[in-house]
Amino acid sequence: MSETSDPVTLMKQEVGKAAAQRVKSGAIVGLGTGSTTAYAIQYIGERLKSGEITDIKGIPTSFQATVLAKQYGIPLTTLDEVDRIDVAIDGADEVDPHKNLIKGGGAAHTREKIVDSLAEEFIVVVDSSKIVDKLGSTFLLPVEVLPLAMTPVMRAIEKLGGKPQLRMGVKKAGPVITDQGNMVIDVKFDSIDNPAELEKTLNNIPGVLENGLFVGVTDVVLVGEVIDGKPVV
Ligand code: 5RP
Repeated sequence: MSETSDPVTLMKQEVGKAAAQRVKSGAIVGLGTGSTTAYAIQYIGERLKSGEITDIKGIPTSFQATVLAKQYGIPLTTLDEVDRIDVAIDGADEVDPHKNLIKGGGAAHTREKIVDSLAEEFIVVVDSSKIVDKLGSTFLLPVEVLPLAMTPVMRAIEKLGGKPQLRMGVKKAGPVITDQGNMVIDVKFDSIDNPAELEKTLNNIPGVLENGLFVGVTDVVLVGEVIDGKPVV
């Protein structure tokens, strides 16, 4: 782990480490996206390098995860080559009391949902600021959209009561483009009362590839906190 004294970074490292610790030799591992999961990927790589675990294969959920896995020496495979995923580790933007999630802060939720939902065990790594009573209370809901369908999809979302905005990249120079070559709309809903229904309704709009609601997918949530300046999981 890199040296830092920042308690939030230390806490993310500890959560990532706790998740990586649950990976067993021979496992096929879904590798999530984001700053917390990055530490899990790093630590899985370190455990492999030290010989503590062997014969791991990773399935990345994004270009970012692919780069990190290669950097830390985790051999990669694809969904075509395996018949199972033993465990997936991924971050989240919100977690509700039923372990339902909003994901997609890193615009990777489409591949994340494919990999995470196939895993025998899906472990979510978050800090305590991500825990909410109701989804949508602190974070907008990301929706990946085919660029040619942007306008009709935005209109359809407005009809559902959502306020959509196109996600722009750094310095607002252009829209964020996903690993699949699509765009992301972030949607404000006044209240997400039925996440399972909204997930299906949004995905039924022609041109929508996937939305960031993860309902009934999570098995374990590892939550990091900073207490008295010290990281605790
Ligand atoms: C990417 C995601 C991330 O997992 C989510 O945004 C959390 O990231 P971080 O750990 O950096 O807060 O869903 O699409």
